[in-house]
Amino acid sequence: MRNLAELDNAVASFSDGNGKTVIEYKPSEAPIHLLPSRTPLEFSANATYFLVGCLGGLGRSLTSWMMKRGAKRFTSLSRSGTDAEQAALLVRDIREAGAIVQVIRGDASVRADVDRALESVPAEFPVRGVVQAAMVLRDGLFQSMNHRNWTTSIQPKVFGTVNLHNALKDQQLDFFVCTSSISGVLGTPGLTNYSASNAYLDALACHRVSQGLPCSSLVLPMISGVGVVAENLEIEEALKRKGIYGIDEEDLLESFEAAMMTQTTEKPFDHVIAGLDPARLQKVLSGNDVTDAFWLQDARFKGLMHTISAASGASAPGSDHSILDEIGAASSPQAAIEAIANHFADKLSRLLMVDRDDFEPDTISIADYGLDSMIGAELRNWIFKEYGLDIPFQQLLGQGMTINKFAAQVCKVNGIE
Ligand SMILES: NC(=O)c1ccc[n+]([C@@H]2O[C@H](COP(=O)([O-])OP(=O)(O)OC[C@H]3O[C@@H](n4cnc5c(N)ncnc54)[C@H](OP(=O)(O)O)[C@@H]3O)[C@@H](O)[C@H]2O)c1
Repeated sequence: MRNLAELDNAVASFSDGNGKTVIEYKPSEAPIHLLPSRTPLEFSANATYFLVGCLGGLGRSLTSWMMKRGAKRFTSLSRSGTDAEQAALLVRDIREAGAIVQVIRGDASVRADVDRALESVPAEFPVRGVVQAAMVLRDGLFQSMNHRNWTTSIQPKVFGTVNLHNALKDQQLDFFVCTSSISGVLGTPGLTNYSASNAYLDALACHRVSQGLPCSSLVLPMISGVGVVAENLEIEEALKRKGIYGIDEEDLLESFEAAMMTQTTEKPFDHVIAGLDPARLQKVLSGNDVTDAFWLQDARFKGLMHTISAASGASAPGSDHSILDEIGAASSPQAAIEAIANHFADKLSRLLMVDRDDFEPDTISIADYGLDSMIGAELRNWIFKEYGLDIPFQQLLGQGMTINKFAAQVCKVNGIE
């Protein structure tokens, strides 16, 4: 029997299959607190909205939603304009629905291109809102990343946003939203360039707000259904292993609305994070897919971890098992090596989706099981977290580095030989 005020918990326990739940209404015991209804955001038909990188996945969803809420004029900046079929379709559809869309081909990281795009906006319909969604992904480990991959990913977000900031400093805007990512907040090891770029967006938003300028960095988790992650199963799987949950298109648009609306309030938030809800994290982290939640040990998330564990009544995720304790208590060095080899092979099996029986710990090199740079980054990070061993990538993937040799090295580093 649950009171109506506990409806959320009742629904959760129902979906967990814990039998029948009866809801009763007893306001005297637990009054129900209602949130004040909020007025939905409306856009102006007489303003131009300057959308950068918004002919990609998320931008398409955003533009259609803005139109439904009254926006009529868009200036869109991206390098390939309507070359991609999906981009051409979007522009055609929104024109047919009555919007006026100018598509400017240009690179946001080139100031002259930004200026040219802004000059094309008719003076009678000035820019009132900006969404900066440009991005290019080039994943890889920091130490093995070439300069080109680093700058390719940094340019649209860092230089692109600085250009927008400088070009629009004196423009009276209702909002300036930068689409950032949870990868920046967490510091994802296999996406260092992307994480750094997003951290930059968060910092720039903070700077703009401190100067009295509108801005909010919208920190998104992976989005299901639309956008680059939804179109790339590999990225989606890697993010799931990190304990990051996805939000759907409806949540995405609500997040955009929150990020835009906060900028017109007296105390605006310079960033809005849409991917660290303790209740949802608790569900994800208790699943078997999560094998690389590197951020759980990060002191910055201690408060969050505490909320998650308090809500679930369990100990904080990631804090209950230590393989190092296990090898410290092993009966012999050989038993310790075997414990590490098994532990490591379990991890590799989950990570590479290789059958556990296919491993030959004495003869096959770790590299021969097939690791790409993204998984390699994840594995190195996990090795450091679990075994306290900072092993260079070349050594880990060197010929002759079998699972057993690796296990012996872990034991040696931990004083067991
Ligand atoms: N999708 C997700 O799950 C997710 C999760 C977290 C955060 N985000 C953030 O959301 C934003 C949009 O993501 P998305 O999934 O829609 O990505 P997307 O489909 O790859 O779209 C990004 C767009 O940026 C444009 N672009 C790249 N470099 C540019 C430059 N220098 N100047 C102008 N435009 C440029 C690209 O078009 P051209 O190649 O034609 O220039 C592309 O259409 C990104 O900022 C991303 O970090 C997305």
